Amino acid sequence: MIYIKTKKEIDFIRESCRIVAETLRLVANNVKPGVSTIELDQIADEYILSNNAKAAFKGYSQAGSYNYPASICVSIDDEIVHGIPSARVLKNGEIVSIDVGVLKNGYFGDAALSVAVGEISPEKRKLLEVTEKALYEGIKEAKADNRVHDVSFAIQKYVESNGFSVVRDLCGHGVGKFLHEEPSVPNFGAKGTGPKLKNGMTIAIEPMVNYGSYKIKTSQDGWTVCTQDGLPSAHFEHTILISNGSPEILTVC
Ligand code: MF3
Ligand code: CO
Repeated sequence: MIYIKTKKEIDFIRESCRIVAETLRLVANNVKPGVSTIELDQIADEYILSNNAKAAFKGYSQAGSYNYPASICVSIDDEIVHGIPSARVLKNGEIVSIDVGVLKNGYFGDAALSVAVGEISPEKRKLLEVTEKALYEGIKEAKADNRVHDVSFAIQKYVESNGFSVVRDLCGHGVGKFLHEEPSVPNFGAKGTGPKLKNGMTIAIEPMVNYGSYKIKTSQDGWTVCTQDGLPSAHFEHTILISNGSPEILTVC
């Protein structure tokens, strides 16, 4: 079932999303060659706690794996999502996806972005640009009376017309009282299908775009999802609210 949020619930989600956006900005500003991914995790965790909120991913359980051990996900190059922060140091030329979730007052917010570490190749630059633009193409379709796969179709069409591929096995999702709620929001699909979108729905739209094949694998650590072909991948995500018929991005600051 897809929850329609009350005004009060929306206020709480809005607050969590604001903290998510501020945390992402802070972490992104600290991305540079030489910084370790665990340092980024600590910066995020401290900022979230200083807002009397909790990092939503810490302790998150997923079938088949142990509880997620960190506050954010940091996924480098061929890592698509769910990279676990570690002593690994960022290097010039890499691209890095930062994913942040926040829980406050019983409600979640969720967003991600990908940024360059120092100077990157034109190919990686294009991958970042196309993935971010794909997110906005999807968001445009998230309006009342459209269907979920109108969002999916718009993302897939934009990405594939630029020669990249969308990950099939991971999706966007409803967000609110739970980090992952219905509906599932795939990054590929047929126009005019899927559940109908309505005012008061809050959903996370999150294209994961691969430079090469869409095929993925889960690495040895049980969490990090990588491309099978080893080529880079990018990821952008916003939590949005459908209000007055139109999408409103909540993870902005
Ligand atoms: N933004 C991701 C998602 O919505 C982050 C989940 S990471 C996890 O699925 F650790 F919580 F699994
Ligand atoms: Co998400």
